[in-house]
Amino acid sequence: MTVRLKTKMHWIAMIGGLVFTATVLAEELPAGDPVEGRAIASACRACHGPDGYARVANAPHIGGEDAAYIANQMIAYRDGTRRHAAMSLVARRLDNQAIADVAAWYASHRVSTRMTRPAPEAPEQCTACHGADGIATIRNAPHIAGEASVYIATQLKAYKSGKRVNAVMSDIAAMLTDDEIRSIANWYSAVDLTIESPGN
Ligand code: HEC
Ligand code: HEC
Repeated sequence: MTVRLKTKMHWIAMIGGLVFTATVLAEELPAGDPVEGRAIASACRACHGPDGYARVANAPHIGGEDAAYIANQMIAYRDGTRRHAAMSLVARRLDNQAIADVAAWYASHRVSTRMTRPAPEAPEQCTACHGADGIATIRNAPHIAGEASVYIATQLKAYKSGKRVNAVMSDIAAMLTDDEIRSIANWYSAVDLTIESPGN
């Protein structure tokens, strides 16, 4: 009991500090034009769908994500700080304006969720930033609602091993066991996500 309480206090103290440290590279980008971005997104739809609802299990849903988050990830794939063969190829073809535009297009979508499990059981280490239903509550954090369980687990393991680095998530992932990663990935994966395009 004491151990559990201590762990809980540790989480609360740590998360309180982290909410304010998320960095914002994308603020240096030009303003994005969603209309231009829609045309660029024809190069993304095979995997992420026209509205950002992923069509392949190893790709994440990106419709309705914060534009700064999307842009930061594209920059990271382009400069090699986040590594993935297909995404690095895609990102290297885009200049800063194209990244800002495609980020603005996907960010202009609306997300909604339906929970299939009771909200009070949500993983308490995550809800301050990702919500109980996986919809981000702070800028720069991604939605993780309805992502394939294997995608969520792969990203958490990448933060834990240092393959993917982030001031906030690396520390958090380092504290998770493989069992916790599996059960948290299943939690957020079980949320039903709907993405609507801006025209609807
Ligand atoms: C061949 C399939 C494919 C294509 C085409 C593709 N992506 Fe991806 N994308 C992926 C996969 C797979 C990942 C997950 C990579 C990883 O594990 O880091 C990903 C990840 C991302 C992420 C990170 C999202 C997150 O939640 O962290 C963004 C943003 C993204 N893609 C945007 C784009 C954009 C914009 C385009 C078009 C210009 C595009 N992608 C084209 C497969 C694709
Ligand atoms: C203090 C805020 C905060 C907390 C708490 C937090 N996260 Fe995050 N999370 C972030 C931010 C910010 C990012 C974006 C990191 C980056 O740019 O790589 C992120 C990214 C992620 C990603 C990558 C998603 C993607 O689309 O690639 C996953 C998965 C994730 N978090 C899961 C979790 C889980 C599970 C927990 C609880 C154990 C958690 N996070 C707790 C802020 C937080």
